[in-house]
Amino acid sequence: MEGRTSSASHWNGVYRMNKRESLGWFAPSLDTSLSLIQAYSNDLDSSILDIGGGSSSLVDDLLARGFSDLSVLDISQIALDDTRSRLGATADAIDLICADIRSPSLNLNEAMVWHDRAVFHFLWTPEELASYRSLLLQTLAPGGKVILGVFSENAPPKCFGLPVNRHSLKSLLAVFGDRFTCMDWLTEIHITPGGVEQEYLYSVWQIQD
Ligand SMILES: C[S@@+](CC[C@H](N)C(=O)[O-])C[C@H]1O[C@@H](n2cnc3c(N)ncnc32)[C@H](O)[C@@H]1O
Repeated sequence: MEGRTSSASHWNGVYRMNKRESLGWFAPSLDTSLSLIQAYSNDLDSSILDIGGGSSSLVDDLLARGFSDLSVLDISQIALDDTRSRLGATADAIDLICADIRSPSLNLNEAMVWHDRAVFHFLWTPEELASYRSLLLQTLAPGGKVILGVFSENAPPKCFGLPVNRHSLKSLLAVFGDRFTCMDWLTEIHITPGGVEQEYLYSVWQIQD
């Protein structure tokens, strides 16, 4: 499935050319992610890693709720710069990491919560899926949780020009089921700023002992 993958230049172009409030995935606050993080991580010192966090306000909202050990990883430096300038001096307390999640040499600090809204679904090839899984296994702390938000099978097939690998619980189980237990899941309709409905499938996974 070469050619379906996303590049830093694609994403930098997206963030350079569009206001953050007009991006299809934009929401003033990521309420479902926030409530799942709070439900499954009541320790404010827990390390939380937002994979492909872009310029979303999730870190702002987590800081406001007292979470203190936060990292945001994204392939786009422009998105991370936006988050840095939005947060001002508060950004110094956050680890902003510009990296491609598919990079085999990526080495991340241990995290108690791995959050990913709308990034995993851009991965298509068996190699990309395997490398995501292996980075996750390498990074997640014992007892850690994974919170995934992906386009469901009922969502549109593309997002901002890129084809999306839409998922069901069954397809997620095929990737994660042998090492993770699904603790919770739900679907949610996100309405884009342009008025398009996108069904997301959220799921929470715990690494097995
Ligand atoms: C659809 S946006 C979602 C942004 C944010 N998670 C949210 O829900 O508002 C996807 C994000 O993933 C980032 N991204 C895409 N592919 C990536 C990759 N291979 N490695 C790291 N980040 C990536 C993009 O730059 C973008 O910020």
